[in-house]
Amino acid sequence: MKPNRNRGGVFISVEGPDGAGKTTQLQMLQDKLEEHGLEAVMTREPGGTVIGEQIRKILLDPKFTEMTVICEVLLYSAARAQLVAEVIRPALLSGQVVLCDRFVDSSTVYQGYAGAEDPGRIKEINLWAVGGLLPDRTILLNIDAEAGLDRLRKKRQGPAPAGDRMEQKALAFHRRVQEGFLQLASQEADRFCIIDAAQDLKAVHRSIWEDVRPLLQERALIT
Ligand code: TMP
Repeated sequence: MKPNRNRGGVFISVEGPDGAGKTTQLQMLQDKLEEHGLEAVMTREPGGTVIGEQIRKILLDPKFTEMTVICEVLLYSAARAQLVAEVIRPALLSGQVVLCDRFVDSSTVYQGYAGAEDPGRIKEINLWAVGGLLPDRTILLNIDAEAGLDRLRKKRQGPAPAGDRMEQKALAFHRRVQEGFLQLASQEADRFCIIDAAQDLKAVHRSIWEDVRPLLQERALIT
């Protein structure tokens, strides 16, 4: 299936290694849009629907150490198919802005580049799952694997945090995640915007806004 861009609202995804600060930045972006009179639909992966949140529990449960990467690919894409059908596509069709915490690129990178399954096939399976839908713009919050994991530890205020099943993977895995995202971004340079997530929160937010604003102006959603 060929990727297609949506024809209604604007679809923005935010990606990055664990601890890059996606959730905080998405919240700041949503607030900024609200200041401009735009009410964005915010959602996350895996999850965002009742079914997707159940799938998330299975995917991130640390006790399932036996889970294969192919099982991960299929579960992440199943949750994604539901999210697109139930939330993202209807919102885009009604002309809304959708902000999504991770999308297909996370599977290509975590299960493909880092998990050693074929990234091309993962993309193909996912394009089928989402009916070819890809974001109009993808913000990549780039951060070193160590720095990202360190942030998560500090957030939980413990020297040896438990973390979810994905976070518990080895540092080498998380390094491949960071490299994978950068590689993907260079292959699809027209869709991705890479932002240095090691900067302070406000600076990261400003960089995101500088990138997103012209896109929204182009679509006449803000002045
Ligand atoms: P989160 O911590 O950003 O909510 O994401 C949950 C974890 O799931 C995170 O470690 C990244 C991982 N993940 C994948 O491995 N593949 C995917 O397709 C998605 C969406 C997330």
